[in-house]
Amino acid sequence: MATNTEPQISQESIASFHEHLGKSKRILALLGAGLSASSGLPTFRGKGGLWRTHQSMSLATPGAFNEDPGLVWQFYSYRRHMSLQAKPNPAHYALAALAEKIPGFQTLSQNVDGLSPRAKHPPKQLQLLHGSLFDLKCADRHCGYIREDYTDPIVPALAIPTSGADLTSNETREQDISDVSVSIPKLKHHELPQCPKCKKALLRPGVVWFGENLPFTVLETVDDYLASREKIDLMLVIGTSAKVHPAAGYIDKARQRGARVAVINTDENDRPPRGWNDGDWFFCGDAAQILPELLKPVIGDLPKP
Ligand code: APR
Repeated sequence: MATNTEPQISQESIASFHEHLGKSKRILALLGAGLSASSGLPTFRGKGGLWRTHQSMSLATPGAFNEDPGLVWQFYSYRRHMSLQAKPNPAHYALAALAEKIPGFQTLSQNVDGLSPRAKHPPKQLQLLHGSLFDLKCADRHCGYIREDYTDPIVPALAIPTSGADLTSNETREQDISDVSVSIPKLKHHELPQCPKCKKALLRPGVVWFGENLPFTVLETVDDYLASREKIDLMLVIGTSAKVHPAAGYIDKARQRGARVAVINTDENDRPPRGWNDGDWFFCGDAAQILPELLKPVIGDLPKP
């Protein structure tokens, strides 16, 4: 018998999706925070969009970093810590397996949490539109220093003050993110990560903030993919509110290249920016449950963890 948590999706729509998937050679996917929700990471516009009285999105700007780098670094250090505690879920593994099977599959991820790379999604088929929490770069763009770094914490002052509980469990997560009683220490400049190259500026997280351009090489790769003479067969839109541009604009670009669109989301109101077209699919529910089933004809059964 179906429980409340199981997706209510008709066999008919799954069958028509499977039929189309079987014929698809070029597939594009747009991934958002909902992909990692069942790994225990909060989304941006959902319940977890608050970090200790601060709206997550108000901290994701160059202006916020210039004004209070200590505050912004504590937020990102928290997110790095959470992401390192989390594990990729079956949806990350299903997408990585699809990439192995279909060379014409390209993935555009808005997620910076490192879970798709940790699921061994082939790097050439994974475009990190919004960068990565695990890239550190010099805040002075003329310096150009950048490195990949998974150290947690990066510097002692950025250690996360917690009880040692599993931060990715639902109970701790909600408490920890919004607990107004958790103080946010005022950190001094010298306590924050310093650029070892120019020795003048601070390091900053290698993520794309509001008002910044997407990484040039990523944009170029995506443009080349879209410019190919071959049509795009299928566009998968997974766990994203599709409100942030240019990422959300890729849905229409794929449509213009012939793609049929399949949306996988827990919220039926989160539809493509220009609404639905004939031939679209909407699969309502948790991506971690739905994707392995949807992709099964191509990827088979995922190995048990
Ligand atoms: N399975 C599928 N979808 C889910 C799940 C789940 N388990 N849980 C939540 N969702 C859906 C929500 O319904 C919502 O539509 O995931 C979406 C998350 O939306 P946002 O929080 O807006 O995240 P995202 O679309 O990734 O945001 C885009 O905005 O702040 C920026 O840079 C940040 O990359 C981010 C960008």
